Amino acid sequence: MPKKITLRSPLDMHLHLRDGDMLKLVTPLTAESFSGAVIMPNLVPPVDSLDRLLEYKQRIVDALGHYKFDPYMTMFFRQYSEKELAVAKDHMIGIKLYPAGATTNSEAGVKALDAVEPTFKMMEEMGIPLMVHGETHGFVMDREKEFLDSYDYLATKFPKLKITMEHITTADAVKMLDRHENLRATVTLQHLIITLDDVAGGMLNPHLFCKPIAKRPEDREALLQAALQAHPKLMFGSDSAPHPLEKKECCGCAAGVFTSPLAVARLAQLFDRHDKLDKLQAFISDNAQNLYGVKPAEKLVTVTNERFQVPAAYVGHDQHVVPMHAGEEIEWSISHIS
Ligand code: NCD
Ligand code: ZN
Repeated sequence: MPKKITLRSPLDMHLHLRDGDMLKLVTPLTAESFSGAVIMPNLVPPVDSLDRLLEYKQRIVDALGHYKFDPYMTMFFRQYSEKELAVAKDHMIGIKLYPAGATTNSEAGVKALDAVEPTFKMMEEMGIPLMVHGETHGFVMDREKEFLDSYDYLATKFPKLKITMEHITTADAVKMLDRHENLRATVTLQHLIITLDDVAGGMLNPHLFCKPIAKRPEDREALLQAALQAHPKLMFGSDSAPHPLEKKECCGCAAGVFTSPLAVARLAQLFDRHDKLDKLQAFISDNAQNLYGVKPAEKLVTVTNERFQVPAAYVGHDQHVVPMHAGEEIEWSISHIS
């Protein structure tokens, strides 16, 4: 008997759709199997005004084709005026903070958190969530751990500000979830299944290189246990971050793993392997709905334990994007969407 599960309105709470031809290529690959996604603002230039947000949202809608899909827009953190926040508030799900230079297109990010407190305060008062790329500029394996003090500071100083620790990768970050009422987190697919060994322990695999870098087996285990029990403050956020093939397979490889087209099926395989398929609905949609109060368009996605071969690359007008598991077989696949 084939096993199957029908997921209601899967959500991807951290997604990079890019712009231009890449946007046109990857948007349908998420919109097929997800009801909605939180769209990251790290374009060049960043999405840091209501005008830019609305224009970008329109380009996403134009790229959707016939798919039903809610793009939950974000703005790039900078010091905003009260008026700017007041007019933009209803058009976005939150504001994404990048430490300056921490990752792709983050040069305009924040240099010191205490210098931008007035914006945190206004966001807290207006009920605008803060999403954070939580890494310092320290040793690469310690960057997330070193940033945890900043989460403590933010969560304590702004107790009503809802703060999402984006793409957590360490056991220490999992523990933080229970320390502050106003902290929640997203976790990616790759950080539930790989460690640094898969990236650089043998032949270097640029397609698994992302920020934050994959960590130790005990970190992966802690993340996996939290996901498999559908910890109510943990949400799926793919951090699917496509780069053209030539930006990955080169000297100076860009950070980002492209997982959108296979994320739902691969998560079903993972949860089934641990006999926790019944927890996948909460992890992939319900927790996010509760934490953000979103009501996504209804989409029923049935996943079955029938194999499918992940393409070697997804090909757009002018570019190739290589997904995680390129050319490999996955044990589960999407069998029906309505
Ligand atoms: C992301 C990107 O390429 O935009 N890269 C990544 O490795 N995750 C940015 C980010 O979320 O850090
Ligand atoms: Zn990201």
